Amino acid sequence: MTNPTPAWLRHLRPEVAAMDHYSAPHTVAPRARLHANECPYPWPAHVFDGIAEALRNVELERYPDISGRRLRELVATRHGCEPSQVILGNGSDEVISLLLIALAGTHQQPSHILTPSPTFVMYSHSAQVLGLQVRHVPLTRNFELDPGAMHAALKQGPALCFFARPNNPTSSLWSAEVIAELMASYPATVFVIDEAYGAYAPGTSMWQPPVRQNHVHMGTLSKVGMAALRLGYCIAPPRLATALNVVRHPYNISQTSLAIAETLLTRYEDVQRDMINKTIAGRERLAAMLATLPGAEVMPAHANLVVARFANAAVSTRLQRYLYEQRILVKDLSKYPGLAGCLRVSVGVEHELDLLQQALQQVPAELWSPSDCTYN
Ligand SMILES: Cc1ncc(COP(=O)(O)O)c(C=O)c1O
Repeated sequence: MTNPTPAWLRHLRPEVAAMDHYSAPHTVAPRARLHANECPYPWPAHVFDGIAEALRNVELERYPDISGRRLRELVATRHGCEPSQVILGNGSDEVISLLLIALAGTHQQPSHILTPSPTFVMYSHSAQVLGLQVRHVPLTRNFELDPGAMHAALKQGPALCFFARPNNPTSSLWSAEVIAELMASYPATVFVIDEAYGAYAPGTSMWQPPVRQNHVHMGTLSKVGMAALRLGYCIAPPRLATALNVVRHPYNISQTSLAIAETLLTRYEDVQRDMINKTIAGRERLAAMLATLPGAEVMPAHANLVVARFANAAVSTRLQRYLYEQRILVKDLSKYPGLAGCLRVSVGVEHELDLLQQALQQVPAELWSPSDCTYN
């Protein structure tokens, strides 16, 4: 007997019914995780003694601070802003949603948002979930911004424009001058400068107070050794920060995450810096490795990930499958507009890069050829 259509289905929002959920490849015991843009280096054992100490003081039976005040103060001190301007989210994914909900416009005049494309998919995904229109401005072939096209799109008055610097999935670092000029020209648009990968491009931050009233700085701890904590944040102009707090659920960050993040950021900064520096060094090795592959064009890399574009566009898909069979996870970007033949590889620890190197040295010759390949 076939399942009847459930009666409640008519209440499901059509935009949600039509969408796929965000998913990531899962494989049992991967040997190398080079697909999620994490900081690959684990914290050394002695750091866990400090974490254990901090966790002993967590009152599990109590709610956490309603807005993560101590961590907000820490972020504010480091960024030279008021703690009241800092909003924490369960990952910056949550911060993105808070911004979209707060600036969604009215029923009569719903907002739309703007992103260069390709970029981080959650900007569009979360906007579509809310029923907001998304306009995309294609990047140039070299993954740079197209200022003329950005101007044309901004003239349409989007509520929000997202710029990831450096960008995911391209690892490019868009011109700060171009972005600053756009921000100055369109004061009615809020520009979110997402510096999730800023640690991998030292000295390039656009957060230089005082900043414009339409500048939101977004960051995350996920890419600097704390992805498990799910902690992101933004710094917003005061009126917008108030609105974001209206939208935000109270107690949205767990006390265990807060306690661990505060400990790592205050007691083990030097360890973290070392993890980041090793990752930057790993990026050079990874880029050099990918450059030896037949037909590969390695794109400039500023985040903890490297993109190789293959002249034969089928190769990126085949390579991903081949590596997956060896339990090495990378990301084929071919299905995204503007990314035909592109493979994204996150930096791994030395051992993971060794495994990748060995696997790449043993690629079956047929994989590189235009047709007749079992990895199609
Ligand atoms: C550019 C960018 N921003 C934000 C995020 C979200 O990070 P999180 O929700 O883990 O803080 C990601 C994740 O990959 C990203 O690539």
